[in-house]
Amino acid sequence: MRITIIGCGWLGLALARHWRGRHALVLTTTTPERLPELEALGAEAALVQGNDRSAMARALAQAEVVVLTLAPRGDRQVDADAYASTYLSTCRSLLEVLPELPQLRQIVYTSSCGVYGDAAGGWIDETTPPQPRDGHATVLLQAEALLQRATAPRGAGMPAPAVAVLRLGALHGPGRELGPRLARLAGSQRPGDGILWSNWIHQQDAVAAIDAVVEQGFSGLLNVVDGRPATLRQLVERACAVRALAPVTWGADDPLPQSPSPPSAGASLPNRRIGNQRLLALGVTPMRAGVLEQLAEG
Ligand SMILES: NC(=O)c1ccc[n+]([C@@H]2O[C@H](COP(=O)([O-])OP(=O)(O)OC[C@H]3O[C@@H](n4cnc5c(N)ncnc54)[C@H](OP(=O)(O)O)[C@@H]3O)[C@@H](O)[C@H]2O)c1
Repeated sequence: MRITIIGCGWLGLALARHWRGRHALVLTTTTPERLPELEALGAEAALVQGNDRSAMARALAQAEVVVLTLAPRGDRQVDADAYASTYLSTCRSLLEVLPELPQLRQIVYTSSCGVYGDAAGGWIDETTPPQPRDGHATVLLQAEALLQRATAPRGAGMPAPAVAVLRLGALHGPGRELGPRLARLAGSQRPGDGILWSNWIHQQDAVAAIDAVVEQGFSGLLNVVDGRPATLRQLVERACAVRALAPVTWGADDPLPQSPSPPSAGASLPNRRIGNQRLLALGVTPMRAGVLEQLAEG
């Protein structure tokens, strides 16, 4: 298959390695210095800013499948406007060039479970209406909606591509281990009780999910989570215990100074457990240890 990965960063690279030698790949970056790294995977590498319609058209000229794994640089720090200029402008230029791409049969977009709202700790799935709680999640949902427009008929002899929207849980894996970040909380006092569920997916399981979605020509919405949510309290306790660090004390009245890296127990974070039945039905069983087990390894 001929596949273009737009935004070949941390996840895109893992995907490209997985597909190396199996599919003909075009891998994109916005950084000229990264081109050799992408070419070394036996792929065609291209410089593409998502809002550059011509560059998008060139990168997609032969593609049967496009996988959008782009994210703004420095992901967590950027504001919602930067999010919009990354995701929405890229989706718009993809829609603009679509009539020139009769061979394109599937669009895969890695969205985020961040589009879901609060469920007071209950379980939710793909049938749960999204309810973004901040500007970033709103942009991701808008990007999903934009891409749905690609399913409209394109004219005679040009069937509409399948659109797969994958809502990823928080990613972890090589180079993005959670333990060291959580361990920075050792000995601190945190507000609340820490019983706030978080939902995760290992990088390699996300790769397996995208692979299955492409192999099966999946169209629709899919939660890509490992189905083993963990509370913030469980995560912090495990991360500190395996390092023999002082535990965190919960229930502090005064909020701590903001720390950008570890997850915060702020009341504004949605509290829900996200199911992955649809992922399992696709034949993808997250095989890696869940995030709690990974923390036990250090
Ligand atoms: N990280 C998480 O926990 C998480 C959770 C849920 C969903 N996701 C989704 O998973 C996907 C992959 O995330 P990641 O962590 O692998 O991202 P990443 O490492 O930050 O890589 C992002 C890639 O997008 C490229 N890019 C940035 N701005 C662009 C633009 N305007 N036009 C085209 N390409 C652009 C970057 O280019 P350069 O190569 O030049 O840097 C980089 O290759 C994203 O769609 C993200 O929304 C992530």
